[in-house]
Amino acid sequence: MEVGPDLGFEVLPDADAVAQVAATAIRALAEKAIAARGVFRIVLAGGTTPLAAYRLLARESADWAAWEVFFGDERCLPADAADRNDVAARRAWLDQVAVRGDRIFAIPSELGAERAAQEYVYAISSARPFDLVLLGMGEDGHTASLFPGREVPPDALVIPVHDAPKPPPDRVSLTPRVLADSRAMLIMVTGASKHSAIQAWRGGGDLPVARTAAAGHTRVLLDRAAAGG
Ligand code: 6PG
Repeated sequence: MEVGPDLGFEVLPDADAVAQVAATAIRALAEKAIAARGVFRIVLAGGTTPLAAYRLLARESADWAAWEVFFGDERCLPADAADRNDVAARRAWLDQVAVRGDRIFAIPSELGAERAAQEYVYAISSARPFDLVLLGMGEDGHTASLFPGREVPPDALVIPVHDAPKPPPDRVSLTPRVLADSRAMLIMVTGASKHSAIQAWRGGGDLPVARTAAAGHTRVLLDRAAAGG
């Protein structure tokens, strides 16, 4: 799978620079979307990489009431578990700004993966195309909860995931085609542990992140460590 020329890999000095560039890009895309359509629909990435950008956004002023927040995946944990992606995003950012509570659309993974996936299909049904999808990438090239070697039913929009190689084992994930159904995509990857997957990806490897990155409007923000610098 060739990485299209229009998939932009940008190498920045360190993780702080990735967070700064990401936060600036997110705010700019929000202003553009709100000016054009009165609303900004963003899908948040899970994991730890985006938290630095989320913390920067917590200090910003923005037209938060026009934001609608969705999640690319969620771990099947109790609703208030600290390791949930939505709880981490609320603590780092959303609880400190005036995004409306009824405009934060968490994946109800506490209901179990199958039921949560079914319910989330409805939550996103009128939100597509998203304005921005944020993603991270694991050391094996996974993104959201889309892991290597796992087939994704072609018609599925949101899928239950079991026996995930990254704990917890049970998860819920948007599918590549839903994640790619966005006006913009920003993938943040930092740390030397991600270098081999980045090399595989840039070499045309058929990784979940490669299948998800939407050519034409995807920026990949890397620090030097992930880029192998
Ligand atoms: C999750 C994330 C997952 C994450 C990558 C990178 O639920 O864990 O959705 O896809 O983005 O595993 O995680 P780090 O940013 O913590 O390295």
